[in-house]
Formats: sequence, C-alpha cells, structure tokens
Amino acid sequence: MKNYQSMDHFWMPFTANRAFKNAPRIIERAEGVWLHNDRGDKILDATAGLWCVNAGHGRRQIAEAMGQQAMKLDYTSPFNLGHDIGFEFAERLVKYTPENLNRVFFANSGSEAVESALKIALAYQNARGKGGKYRFIGREKAYHGVNFGGISVGGLTPNRKGFGPLLPVDHLPHTLDLSRNAFSKGLPEHGIEKALELENLVQFHGAETIAAVIVEPVSGAGGVVLPPIGYLKKLREICTRHDILLIFDEVITGWGRLGAPFASQKFDVEPDMITSAKGITNGVAPMGAVFVRDEIYDTVVNAAPEGTIEFFHGYTYSAHPVSCAAGLATLDIYASEGLLERASGEIGEYFEAALHSLKGEPGIVDVRNCGLVAAVQYAAPDGSLVGPKIMQRCYEKGLSVRAVGDIIAFSPPLIIEKEHIDQIVDTLGSIAREMFA
Ligand SMILES: Cc1ncc(COP(=O)(O)O)c(C=O)c1O
Repeated sequence: MKNYQSMDHFWMPFTANRAFKNAPRIIERAEGVWLHNDRGDKILDATAGLWCVNAGHGRRQIAEAMGQQAMKLDYTSPFNLGHDIGFEFAERLVKYTPENLNRVFFANSGSEAVESALKIALAYQNARGKGGKYRFIGREKAYHGVNFGGISVGGLTPNRKGFGPLLPVDHLPHTLDLSRNAFSKGLPEHGIEKALELENLVQFHGAETIAAVIVEPVSGAGGVVLPPIGYLKKLREICTRHDILLIFDEVITGWGRLGAPFASQKFDVEPDMITSAKGITNGVAPMGAVFVRDEIYDTVVNAAPEGTIEFFHGYTYSAHPVSCAAGLATLDIYASEGLLERASGEIGEYFEAALHSLKGEPGIVDVRNCGLVAAVQYAAPDGSLVGPKIMQRCYEKGLSVRAVGDIIAFSPPLIIEKEHIDQIVDTLGSIAREMFA
C-alpha cells in the first residue's frame, strides 16, 4: 500500500523521468549486499548504491549512533560555535589520510567537497601572494559533481553543455585506450605519455596562471577509466615542478574501494588535497570532506588578521553532528572488519579473475578492474547504444548495475562474497549471449 497517488511531484535527478515513471523500479528495503523491491524481488547491489555503501546496507551500529546523536545534540551552528563530535571525527579521519593531509574541511556531498577544494586552492594562492594563479586543469571524462566549479573541471559533455560560460579551465586528455589496453588486469601498461599533456597545457597557459590540477585517480562515473602505470606520479612531478596544486577527487576511490584507505596510498602519490564523500558515512548520511595539506591551511589561516574569518566559505550542515556520528560508526566497522584493505586481498583477485573470464563473450570489447571497481564495455554489431538495455536486463535478472553509455560499471559493497561475484558474472555472460550471439 503506497502513501502517494502520483509520481508527478518528485523531479528525479539524473533519471529519464518519463520512462522511469512509466516503468518504476522501487526499492523498499536493503540489507547487506541485497536490495528488495516492491515486487518482492531480491536484487544484488553490484554498485553499492552509488559507489557509497561500502560496508553494506542496514548496518545497525551506524543507525544507532545516528539516533543517539540526534537525541543528544541534533544540530548546532558550525559557524563560530562548535561541537565535540566534529573535532573527534576530523581527528579520526586524518588517521587514514596521507601523511601531510591533516586538516579537514567538511561539506555535505562530493559536489560540495569539490567546490570547497577549488576555493581552498584559490584562497591559498591568494594568501601567498599568487592571486594570478586562478585557472584549473581538469580532465576529459572526469566527473566532479554537478555544481558550477565541478562541471567546469569535469569532462562529461552532457553535464557541461547548456550551462553557460564556466570557470577558466582546460582539460587533459582521458586515458581510456582500448586499442592498446583492452582487457588489462589492474593498471593499464600504456599511456603514461598522456600525463605529458599537462606540460603542454602549462606551457600554453603559463604556470603563473594555474592554481590547481584536479583528477580522479580512477575515473568512476566517466566509465571506470584507470590511470596508466606511472601516470599519476608523472602528474605529481609536473605539478610540483611548476608550483601547481594537485587535487585527487577520491569521492569514489576513497574508503577501501581500491584496497587501501585512499588511491593515494594504493598508488603511492601524495596530492595536496583529497576530496571525499560517499563511503565516509557508508552512504547513510550526507557528508563530504576535503583533506588538506597542513601548509595550505597554515598559509590561508595565518594570512588573515587575528580575530577575522580566514576563509569565507562553509555550509549550514558542515560537520553535521548526525553525519559525524554516522561517520565515526562507519570507521569503526571499516576497522573491525578490515574492509579498507579487503579489496587488495583474495576477494579482489577473485573479482578480477571472474570478470576477466567474460573475455570472448559476444559483444564484450573490454573488461577492466582495480580493487573492487570494474567495468565491462560492450559494442553492439550494429553500433547501437546497448548499455541501458543491459542495465534493465540485469535488473530483471536480479542484478543492479550502472550503465555509462555502453559501459557497465561495478563497485560492489566491500563485504561482497565469491558467490555474489559468480552471480554477477553468470548474469552478464547470459545477457551477452542472449543479446549478441
Ligand atoms: C569523483 C566524484 N566526485 C564528485 C562526485 C559528486 O558527489 P555527490 O553526488 O555526492 O555530489 C561524485 C559522484 O559520483 C564522484 O564520483
């Protein structure tokens, strides 16, 4: 029995509203790796919601911590007032961040974390007398959320087109190269030279105009695009040489997705800032954060006269107490269940081997993976778009996946077991034969 008469009023985000409302897919509850829909079907959540429910659904410990916090202190202003749980959460978070990133600026989403990081970059350049460094460099196929800064540095055309003049930004080329790297296991071998394009952009615009470079270590929403071996280190070298900040957008790659707390540790590259969201609270409460190099914080804060606000930026819900409680309980679960490293162990190897067994199935032109994130790419013989149809077929067969064009993306909860991976692979194989054989 539904408590609403019509679906007309909810304008759904990033959704084909008319198609959805004609054939809705309504999820009523979720537990572990499973979603349960309104038709009584049990569906394997192969994307951990939107790459966020890393510890699986329905974690009582998180829900209870949130409830208790709401009864103790539901809300207070984070401007000029404080609460213990915000300081406690920041202190706990930086135990997981790279060595020199010990300052946390809180937001409420990945998009807001990105906006905050871009503004921190500008504030830092201004504070040290380099206000001429105002330009950003992003990358093709990047997704950095939906706010104006994020779509400016982002590299997905539909998200940018139609939204008017954006920030002064240039873009690196993306690193997807099926002709040389198809069916790579882990990081692809070819393509480090794409990082050298940054050197060209620096020469073209002048280092004295560039504030920061922002990249996702592994592009998620752009179709799971992996960095070629050595590529991120090369970006780091070029940024350091030209006094340009490097921001890693780890909204997806953070919190164990690749088998380490952050991609930064996995790939041994330390950026100047990391943006985070999603898995920071296991997706249960909205939360975003920017992890900032100490020297950046010190420079911005020390440049302002004593007693004045140093950075004119923040959100009503920055460090929301209930989200902080969710985050602390999430960190407890990650630690007690070893989830942040799990993807780099046996389960990650099983996931890789199982997905690569799809090589040779009709219509599949690439499988790529790292930790517990992967993509299977299709090409229909007649060139038509098939991703959305495959996504729908998967759902009908009890598997929730994400389509990006003809790429099907996977980012299962980090608690996934072998039998669930087998279900993913069996479903994909049978759909490939049904559609393309
Ligand atoms: C890398 C990256 N950055 C930013 C975002 C935006 O996060 P949100 O949807 O929480 O605003 C996303 C969302 O998928 C993301 O993948």
